Amino acid sequence: MAHMTSILESAVKLNNGRQMPLLGLGTWQNKQPGSVQDAIETAITAGYRHFDTAYLYRNEAEIGEAIKAQIQQGKVKREDLFIVTKLWLTFYSPEDVLVGFNKSLEALQLDYVDLYLMHSPMALQRQGDEIFPKKDEELLFSDTDYVDTWKAMESLVSSGRVKSIGVSNFNISQLQRLLSVAKIPPAVNQVELHPYLVQSDLVKFCKANKITLTAFSPFGCPGRPKEFHRGATDPEKLLEDPVINDIAKKHQRTPAQILLRFHVQQDIAVIPKSASPKRILENTKVFDFFLDEDDMKALKSLDKGWRCCIIEEMKSHPFFPFKDSYVSWRACEGISEVENK
Ligand SMILES: NC(=O)c1ccc[n+]([C@@H]2O[C@H](COP(=O)([O-])OP(=O)(O)OC[C@H]3O[C@@H](n4cnc5c(N)ncnc54)[C@H](OP(=O)(O)O)[C@@H]3O)[C@@H](O)[C@H]2O)c1
Repeated sequence: MAHMTSILESAVKLNNGRQMPLLGLGTWQNKQPGSVQDAIETAITAGYRHFDTAYLYRNEAEIGEAIKAQIQQGKVKREDLFIVTKLWLTFYSPEDVLVGFNKSLEALQLDYVDLYLMHSPMALQRQGDEIFPKKDEELLFSDTDYVDTWKAMESLVSSGRVKSIGVSNFNISQLQRLLSVAKIPPAVNQVELHPYLVQSDLVKFCKANKITLTAFSPFGCPGRPKEFHRGATDPEKLLEDPVINDIAKKHQRTPAQILLRFHVQQDIAVIPKSASPKRILENTKVFDFFLDEDDMKALKSLDKGWRCCIIEEMKSHPFFPFKDSYVSWRACEGISEVENK
């Protein structure tokens, strides 16, 4: 269990001995131009040192500018920051991994990143700079095996420009396969986690195999884009859940703080996104209270295997990772058959 401490002191040790701050700032979907720069500046002042981005988010250049400015102004040192970015799926051919990585590093204007993740086990074909390459409206899947991509990820570490490598959106069997061949085991698996998607088996597996988890979409991504909505009956609003709200009242905290505390108390890193100065600060105040056993039990009992982050068009990909818990959102829509299992 994480000790009571402050955002600046709270970190988890990775399997290679490096420290990763438990609370980071997510940066997906900062819609207003300049908002991510403002968010980074506010967050650094508030004590955030861990920043999560990705080639996919198209904001690495803005983030790089913001970080450079903060370092130049003496607000923070590079070595105190923990910068995470991700290889996009169109760069999964081993010969393209360095190309994808160089694009990110250059945009970020950094000499190294602290953690580089494969964004998913699923590769897409490379067609120039297309993020979602398509033919006749169909996404162009690639059969590149994530194990081969991983080998190229490992060689980035020896170049010194990546301190740690990891994965994102991998399920247990994909992790097992990777671990059986990896020279460098993944330090992190970044996955969707919250009380509606507790993933206790994955959490246990990762702990047993010294893979640190980072929880994304801790609030259920209330601002997710339309492609992530599953029809008019996609009703899940974690922040409004009555059980979470009752626990928040009991501790005189906000529901958001309960959702973040839920992870840091289990030594799971968490990366809430906010572009609001008030909420960026609110989200740091999660290191000075404890959820008791009853609270944790009540939160875990909300599990319904509901995911906010599934791209519908990817579900026929051979390496689609969510088959085991895929049924749940369909159950929300009244479609109860267990498909894809
Ligand atoms: N690896 C992956 O595949 C993957 C997938 C999804 C996300 N991620 C990463 O995880 C990060 C977080 O996930 P997410 O962006 O999907 O969603 P999220 O963090 O669950 O939710 C972000 C939303 O919650 C709002 N919010 C923030 N703090 C709040 C608070 N204290 N009270 C109420 N509302 C609050 C934000 O609005 P304001 O901005 O207006 O505050 C924003 O609309 C991403 O930004 C990204 O870095 C990774």
